[in-house]
Amino acid sequence: MISKPKISIIGAGNVGASAAYRALELDLADVVLLDIVEGLPQGKALDMTQMLSVTGISSSVIGTNNYSDTKDSDVVIITSGLARKPGMSRDDLISTNTKIIKEVTQQVVKFSPNTIIVVVTNPLDAMTYVAHKVSGFPSQRVLGMAGILDSARFKAFLSMELDTSVSKIDTLVLGGHGDDMVPLKSYTTVSGVSITQLIENDRLDQIIQRTRDGGAEIVKLLKTGSAFYAPGVSAIEMAQSILKDQKKLLPCCVYSSGQYGVKDQFVGLPVILSSNGVDKILEIDLNEAEKKELTTSASHVKELCDLIDSFGIL
Ligand code: LAC
Repeated sequence: MISKPKISIIGAGNVGASAAYRALELDLADVVLLDIVEGLPQGKALDMTQMLSVTGISSSVIGTNNYSDTKDSDVVIITSGLARKPGMSRDDLISTNTKIIKEVTQQVVKFSPNTIIVVVTNPLDAMTYVAHKVSGFPSQRVLGMAGILDSARFKAFLSMELDTSVSKIDTLVLGGHGDDMVPLKSYTTVSGVSITQLIENDRLDQIIQRTRDGGAEIVKLLKTGSAFYAPGVSAIEMAQSILKDQKKLLPCCVYSSGQYGVKDQFVGLPVILSSNGVDKILEIDLNEAEKKELTTSASHVKELCDLIDSFGIL
């Protein structure tokens, strides 16, 4: 029997559980759901196992508190850490989540030295930097999930505005996963028609602002946590392209070694995701305004990483 790939999901909160559910729904891999809280991953995994009896899918899921169960994972998705409460920015989470991501990464690497890590914890770009530094992995094997989520939000809002199928909308959101993310109007189309032909510029700018505030809008509504369905599914979109070697072009948080004028830091860029992890970073043409926005967003990420370095704990 050919064994299935193995995905370990660290953190059995809402994002972790949504990612596990999606991986199982796609019959993509056997899933290990890990959390430090006793009973939480076991309970959710048991519930999902019972769900599999209904759907007849053969992938399996276990819940655990032991990292040894994650041994030899093909992909590890890290969702551990605090989420935002209303009024907080993603950056407010930095010191607590740095410590958590450091500990988690050390454990992950111990049992899966050849895995590919996908970070989901906020502040996303800075936590991806932490995981990369602590893991000692080549940068091809440490990525962050944000651009797919941000692009999905932009597409959802455009579809609502135009009252048209979201399936025909294409876009790219680059930059850091923060208030200064960079939705690219010039790469936003509906069945190939430029979005600027379909929506007035001022209205488009409002939709872009709603996209930038997309996470906060949900935090405000939920009051006790942040978004999870779209983040969970977006993380599995990356895992799928990796495990099936699909080579999809996706916006992901990756290490830039000079592309777009961003040197030696993590930021959201368009990449091809394959079984190697980051197969290549694509350098697409940006207009002057977009270039400037990307530089500003990247310099904000750099400030966060410098702050983490000043903690002296990595
Ligand atoms: C959001 C969080 C997950 O954007 O960053 O909803």
